[in-house]
Amino acid sequence: MSVLSGKNILLGVTAGIAAYKSAFLVRLLIKNGANVKVVMTPSAKEFVTPLTLSTLSKNEVYSSFTKEDDDNAQWNNHVDLALWANLIIIAPATANTMSKMANGTCDNLLLAVYLSAKCPVYYAPAMDLDMYKHPTTLHSFEKLENFGNIQIPAVDGELASGLVGPGRMAEPEAIISFLENDILDKLPLKGKKILITAGPTFEAIDPVRFVGNHSSGKMGYAIAEEAASLGAQVTLVSGPVNLTITNSFVKVINVTSAKEMYTETHNYFGECDIAILSAAVADFSPKEKALQKIKKKEDTLIIEFEKTKDILASLGEIKKDKFLVGFALETENELENAKTKLKKKNLDLIVLNSLNDKGAGFKTNTNKVTLISKDNKIYPFEVKPKREVAIDILQHIIKQIYA
Ligand code: CTP
Repeated sequence: MSVLSGKNILLGVTAGIAAYKSAFLVRLLIKNGANVKVVMTPSAKEFVTPLTLSTLSKNEVYSSFTKEDDDNAQWNNHVDLALWANLIIIAPATANTMSKMANGTCDNLLLAVYLSAKCPVYYAPAMDLDMYKHPTTLHSFEKLENFGNIQIPAVDGELASGLVGPGRMAEPEAIISFLENDILDKLPLKGKKILITAGPTFEAIDPVRFVGNHSSGKMGYAIAEEAASLGAQVTLVSGPVNLTITNSFVKVINVTSAKEMYTETHNYFGECDIAILSAAVADFSPKEKALQKIKKKEDTLIIEFEKTKDILASLGEIKKDKFLVGFALETENELENAKTKLKKKNLDLIVLNSLNDKGAGFKTNTNKVTLISKDNKIYPFEVKPKREVAIDILQHIIKQIYA
């Protein structure tokens, strides 16, 4: 799966002969799962038609401040377009457009979108070799770099003039690779290995029966997916759940019992930088597992349980400088109980869910958490979808590990 998948990408097309390549670029972006909107400068329409780009992007193409075919002159909202975009690519970027970007000129819709943008802006220069080397162009490059814009360098090659040299726009495939590599390199959890436990554990009574709990695993799976999207290499040790992982950077290890979860978690703990234990591990397991199905001969059934090993506490004892996160599901004296667990299990962070909060806990798609850090600082959050809660938790961890 490409990192561009699901991203809103605004492609700015300016008036250079390389504009014909923008059709291929739109196609590749769409193929990689991006949502694409195109904004053209008015003269770019002489090089490639809006119809082509609109058909390929499956979206309206914008090129003027107002909707051209509308008698009531509704405006194309440059601010909305800029805020919609997760990233902007200007390809081809002519010397004229780069100079205007460098100087704050705003005489077309694309420049207004650029000036309103909060997202990363990439630009792929395209021009003849002498224009490319001209001091004003070099000055534009320098200014744009200082503004934080990212250049996708032009390459040497045959130019529209027939001359051969630098100034040829990077090929669409190269632009896609450049974007993917740049995005991956800047992800906040790039290079980090994260171990996550999720779901319930099932403790066998006999070959057909078990003792389990209502955990759906949704919170742990959401953390695994989000951590992978933030660049981490994730190992997810999962109890029995009805969920699947879509991100290929998540390795799933399926387990059933608390004992298996303990073993697998310890197998992967050595290599991880961060461990987040969200599983609802059984605290007790039947002392003996009947080898055959227990028959209902008697009126009562007494099963003796023994304590399972506390995985989280065992990791707390050996964690050294790894960042260890636990969960606490409480029904009373929530803050005090969570703080005690944080200290007792030697954690860096504990995520408190209270079963008293509406929208929190097992099976729901939402959760309400309070984070408590090692220094006993308390960070309460609102009820949110579990995906957003996962992001809150990961953002907090990122802040802590890079503090
Ligand atoms: N946990 C674990 N192994 C266990 C039990 C719990 O790793 N055998 C982890 C859970 O994944 C969670 C944290 O410990 O991150 C909190 O578990 P919880 O059951 O709330 O707390 P306990 O320490 O078991 O205390 P109590 O049941 O008395 O509240």
